[in-house]
Amino acid sequence: MTIKNTNEEQTSSTSTEVLAFKDVYKDYPDGDTTVHALAPTTCTIHAGEFVAVVGPSGSGKSTLLTIMGGLQQPTGGSVSLDGKEYSRMSRKELAQLRFSTVGFVLQSSNLVPFLTLEEQLKLHSSYAHEKYDARRAASLMEDLDIEKLRGKYPDELSGGEKQRAAICVALYGRPAVILADEPTASLDTSRAMGVADIFAQATRREHTAVVMVTHDERLLTECDRVLTIQDGKLQESTPEQASQQV
Ligand SMILES: Nc1ncnc2c1ncn2[C@@H]1O[C@H](COP(=O)(O)OP(=O)(O)O)[C@@H](O)[C@H]1O
Ligand SMILES: [Mg+2]
Repeated sequence: MTIKNTNEEQTSSTSTEVLAFKDVYKDYPDGDTTVHALAPTTCTIHAGEFVAVVGPSGSGKSTLLTIMGGLQQPTGGSVSLDGKEYSRMSRKELAQLRFSTVGFVLQSSNLVPFLTLEEQLKLHSSYAHEKYDARRAASLMEDLDIEKLRGKYPDELSGGEKQRAAICVALYGRPAVILADEPTASLDTSRAMGVADIFAQATRREHTAVVMVTHDERLLTECDRVLTIQDGKLQESTPEQASQQV
């Protein structure tokens, strides 16, 4: 169940702009033609918002997410994260901003193949020059029901376990934004709802903004906003409207 924010929390959480798109669009060259993957888009994501992105296959969802995270540049327009505009940053600055601000759960696994789950978390702390937070690690692993996997390598995990491990790593550093591309695709209903619940908790407790691409209409009830995308055109929608489309 979602427990809604108190009014006070709501006000403080929605006032902070975390991610801003201004006239952002993306074209991919495709032989002699051009694929207009993302039409000019202006939108803002605030701290503490749980935003779902829904749309058919090929509609531009992954393009949107990777541009949000600075993993690829748009063809035009400006993207700002935490008030910093990507196009004004060097590659190194962008990589540092990404590390400190964004938790990715991508479709291709973003786990390091030669590290165990716990070592991935320790690597994060070490790169951030922070002490390993064993309590946070244990609590996340418990929430995601992966405590038994802490000593395992990604290769030793099933698809669903890998997905939950990636979610654990993404949440561990308390990023300002989680960008998740179909993070529950390999999970059964109860685990998928569990993940949506964990994301919802992060938005309330830590004011994390979560942008989650999903095909699962049951998860929309947990979200504050739904963006639908069709042929690269993004539209604001309500969970109810979007459920009919999914
Ligand atoms: N690297 C690329 N080069 C060329 N076309 C691409 C590339 N990535 C995606 N596309 C095209 O852009 C459109 C949107 O793709 P994508 O963002 O992956 O959609 P979705 O995640 O909604 O399935 C599709 O037509 C896809 O074929
Ligand atoms: Mg995709």
